Amino acid sequence: MDCQAEKSSSMGSPVECGNPRIETDGFRRSLAEFATGVAVITTTVRGERFGLTSNSFASVSLDPPLVLWSIRRESKSFAAFEACSHFAVNILADDQIGLSQHFARSGPDKFRELTSETGHGDAPLFASAAASFECVCRQTHDGGDHVILIGEVLRYSRYERRPLLFVKGGYAVAAEHPDMRTFATGAIAQRPDDSEERVLSNLMIRAYSAIASRLERARQTEGLGLTLLQARLLRAAATSPGRTLDELMPELFLDFAASRNLLESLVSLGLVAVDDRGQVRLTADGELRLKAIVAHARASEDILFKGIADTDLATVRRVLNTMVAKQLRTA
Ligand SMILES: Cc1cc2nc3c(=O)[nH]c(=O)nc-3n(C[C@H](O)[C@H](O)[C@H](O)COP(=O)(O)O)c2cc1C
Repeated sequence: MDCQAEKSSSMGSPVECGNPRIETDGFRRSLAEFATGVAVITTTVRGERFGLTSNSFASVSLDPPLVLWSIRRESKSFAAFEACSHFAVNILADDQIGLSQHFARSGPDKFRELTSETGHGDAPLFASAAASFECVCRQTHDGGDHVILIGEVLRYSRYERRPLLFVKGGYAVAAEHPDMRTFATGAIAQRPDDSEERVLSNLMIRAYSAIASRLERARQTEGLGLTLLQARLLRAAATSPGRTLDELMPELFLDFAASRNLLESLVSLGLVAVDDRGQVRLTADGELRLKAIVAHARASEDILFKGIADTDLATVRRVLNTMVAKQLRTA
């Protein structure tokens, strides 16, 4: 097929293009531009364990909690998965390429010599995964040479691991995009076209991302145990106690469902309590944790703003305070 004739002038020339039924390799390579994670999906059927590596996993719905993946009809384990009542999705961490390769090959008993636990429906779960989803199989759909399985998640688990990625036909690791560090590295000043940064709010958003990701990293390494959003809610609740979630929301920059989840996470950690009028207050543990977070943020700021004149910092503080006060008045 003539790629030049097909191309639209604004899109540049494709490296390859064509009819996916004829140029199947090019079609595969184009699909492989879509980066995914890697999972080992497992099941137990009539006492026998099955598993295969998959990157077709995707989330479908939050309510009800549904996920999907697809299995090639020619896979040895196809009949087992088509008949299974439950399956488990083990999202692999970046040091589990060996496990991925192991389950990407057909074999008599792939679980021999491997340690696994069992989840719902006896589906095998692996330690050291980045996350797992234990599912009851709800539906199967025809998907050409694959069958699509939809599972309802009965239990999820997430661990403090970095996920393994798969892109362009190879394994990869997740690293922060360089644009996320633009501000911190001072690269803004080197950008030839700084027109975007002339819009002050754009610059502020970039500064916020740079600071937030730095604080988040430090928070994780120093084991303060809360995400930036959880810390923000804790701080908002402490600033004026007795506000409801609705009243706290303008300071969270999240929609209601996400704000409610955030609040529930702090309640389950025993850091805040909500009374029967919906008013949110810090518990004694919450007060202590907030003190530790504030001390940590102050120490991080000393490093972040080192070399910037006190008068400049005072101006930034005054401008930001004015903006926040204005925003709260109009919210
Ligand atoms: C990164 C990666 C992703 C894969 N994704 C899928 C997938 O989503 N569905 C599938 O059927 N096979 C997928 N495969 C191939 C299967 O893992 C492979 O065919 C395996 O041998 C099937 O297991 P079985 O036939 O022994 O049961 C993938 C392989 C790799 C390496």
